[in-house]
Amino acid sequence: MDLNGNTVLITGGGSGIGRAIAEDLHARGNKVIIAGRRQHVLRSVVDANPGMDWIELDLSDPLSIADACTVVKLRHPTLNVIINNAGMMAHDDSGQCLDFQVMLQQVETNFLGPVQLTSALIGHLRDQPRATIVYCTSTLALAPLPFAAIYSATKAALHSYVQSQRAMLRQTNVTVREVAPNLVATALQGAPDPRAMPVDAFVERVIEALGAEVEYVTVEDPATSLITWLSPRIPRLHLVGDGDWRSIHGAVPAR
Ligand SMILES: NC(=O)c1ccc[n+]([C@@H]2O[C@H](COP(=O)([O-])OP(=O)(O)OC[C@H]3O[C@@H](n4cnc5c(N)ncnc54)[C@H](OP(=O)(O)O)[C@@H]3O)[C@@H](O)[C@H]2O)c1
Repeated sequence: MDLNGNTVLITGGGSGIGRAIAEDLHARGNKVIIAGRRQHVLRSVVDANPGMDWIELDLSDPLSIADACTVVKLRHPTLNVIINNAGMMAHDDSGQCLDFQVMLQQVETNFLGPVQLTSALIGHLRDQPRATIVYCTSTLALAPLPFAAIYSATKAALHSYVQSQRAMLRQTNVTVREVAPNLVATALQGAPDPRAMPVDAFVERVIEALGAEVEYVTVEDPATSLITWLSPRIPRLHLVGDGDWRSIHGAVPAR
């Protein structure tokens, strides 16, 4: 995608990876709209970045998604990029009875919500001269983390959906990209992890890869790269990386 001149909707743009992508694209001259549930968080990002817009969105609520899509199209008719970044992770133990509400919230937020949002806007995107849909999955889509079984499964489902949608849109003006973070220093995991890659370093590589039209963008250490490469053949492998973000090899083209 072009890295400037777009109108970009970023879900989860109030914090972490989403905020860093939003601020980078804003600084490059794109019109950026951030979305999420916490109004005060969104407002403070917009206050720090004059010209940005925000919209309330709860991906676990189909009515909220429908409303947000209507408002965004009315307010920003040139919308041509959607970055499905928002997500939530809960630890679980699939060797025990799982909490249905926690399960449902992850399936809705990480899978059904982004699919519904994109589906509601796909007609609009196809009417634009050029459009891009970005989905934020995870390296856990390819090799699950056993103590985040539902989270890993939602990301695997989204990874699968991305490939189908990309195939269906191949001959159109809409390109479909996937960003698969490994371990990035955000609030997602709860406690800070010293092995995590700094958000700004991760987002710098992601933006570079999106500008270079890379379909599957990941930034990993060599150990996790090998496992990611092997995982379609050995799908049950657990990710074990040394977490040294300085050894990253950057964006990996789609296989
Ligand atoms: N950090 C990592 O190591 C890592 C690794 C692999 C994949 N990822 C993925 O990267 C993406 C960004 O996560 P992050 O690491 O930047 O974590 P984060 O800082 O916790 O950001 C998550 C964002 O999602 C939004 N969100 C959560 N539930 C939502 C809902 N129901 N409706 C709308 N927005 C919702 C949150 O905003 P509100 O709370 O205001 O709604 C928040 O801004 C996620 O998809 C995550 O799964 C992250």
